[in-house]
This record gives sequence, C-alpha cells and structure tokens, in this order.
Amino acid sequence: MESTTLYALFFFFHLYLSGSSAMQHGKKTQHQPCKHLKFFFHDIIYNGKNAENATSAIVAAPEGSNRTILAPQNHFGNVVVFDDPITLDNNLHSIPVGRAQGMYLYDKKDTFYSWLGFTFLLNNTDHQGTINFIGADPILVKTRDISVVGGTGDFAMARGIATVMTDAFEGEVYFRLHVDIKLYECW
Ligand SMILES: *[C@@H]1O[C@H](CO)[C@@H](O)[C@H](O)[C@H]1NC(C)=O
Ligand SMILES: *[C@@H]1O[C@H](CO)[C@@H](O)[C@H](O)[C@H]1NC(C)=O
Ligand SMILES: *[C@@H]1O[C@H](CO)[C@@H](O)[C@H](O)[C@H]1NC(C)=O
Repeated sequence: MESTTLYALFFFFHLYLSGSSAMQHGKKTQHQPCKHLKFFFHDIIYNGKNAENATSAIVAAPEGSNRTILAPQNHFGNVVVFDDPITLDNNLHSIPVGRAQGMYLYDKKDTFYSWLGFTFLLNNTDHQGTINFIGADPILVKTRDISVVGGTGDFAMARGIATVMTDAFEGEVYFRLHVDIKLYECW
C-alpha cells in the first residue's frame, strides 16, 4: 500500500517537473534579441580578368578544375577565401563599415550548398569589434540561418542567429548577401 502511494507521488512529481520544464521552454522561445543589426556584404570572385576589383579567390578546386572557374557539379569541392566590404545599404560603392573575412566551401554535388566560416570586422563610430559566424548555407533557399558563435569588443561573448539572404547574384562573379543578425546574448 505504502509503495503504491510512493509511486504515485513520484509519478506526480515527475509530471510537475516536466510541466515546469515545458514552461521554461515556452519562455525561452519568447526571448527577444538584445541586439539586432543588418548589413550587406559584397563578394567579387577573381575570374582571371578582374584582379583589380576581386575580393575573393578560389584557393582549392577538385581534380580536373582550376582556380579560375568554379567547378562543375554545383562547384562541389571548391574552397573560396574572401575579404569583402560590408556596407549598410545594398550599394557596392557605399563607404564600407567593415570587412567580412573568411571562407566558404561548396559541399554538395547535387545542389548549390556551401559551408560558411567567417568574421565581421567592424571598426566605425557605431560598432567596434568582431562577430564570428559559422553554418550551413543552402544557397537556393531564400533565407538561411547560421550561428553567431562569438565576438570581441562591442560583441564580446555574443551569441545568436544570423539570417542570410542572397540580395543579388550576377554571373558567376558577383554576389551580395544581406545579413540580419539577432544576438540573444550580449555583454
Ligand atoms: C573595377 O571596378 C570599377 C568600379 O566599379 C570599374 O569601373 C572597373 O571597370 C572594374 N574593373 C574591373 C577590371 O572589373
Ligand atoms: C580553367 O578551366 C576552364 C574550364 O575548364 C577553362 O575554360 C579555362 O581556360 C581554365 N583556365 C586556366 C587558366 O587554365
Ligand atoms: C580602428 O580604426 C582606428 C581609426 O582609423 C584605428 O586607429 C584602429 O587601429 C582601428 N582598429 C582596428 C582593430 O582595426
């Protein structure tokens, strides 16, 4: 008799616990970002003719391809290193507020897909510091979420989500990304 009561007690205690953790989960999803920033960055891939203006270079290509033209099969196997200007609007010729530096690599054969690893270096009157990004980029999807994994300066210990959107894509040489950054941890 006593053990049945004990069992019932445990059962209800367990219900109580799972109920309260669900409530905590509900609260979490309502969190508002502590910082919300929007930028554009511009990538001009070196194509053998635009050395003067190019901001990125193919540094690795699969066997049979070269580092001037992105590889067939959705560029699978290419690795690109970039140092791109960041602007507040979508104009390539606006005064940059920082640089986006890092790399992307193409990692899917049957569709355009890449993996991003880069840093925003911001050094202007509004923001000073760096923000680090990592994530999978299914390029053909309209909005892609990648992780903000850290930062320095104004963005020390930053964590959050950046939504990446392709704002322009011209030939195989120029593209522009719109990045909407929501930080959920700010110091
Ligand atoms: C570099 O950019 C400038 C300004 O947009 C443009 O006038 C020039 O034609 C470009 N040069 C090359 C080699 O693409
Ligand atoms: C690179 O490969 C492309 C495509 O196969 C070819 O058209 C181009 O001439 C090659 N460029 C060099 C510098 O080998
Ligand atoms: C930021 O800009 C200032 C003024 O141009 C410069 O003195 C400083 O070295 C820059 N800091 C970094 C980290 O680039």
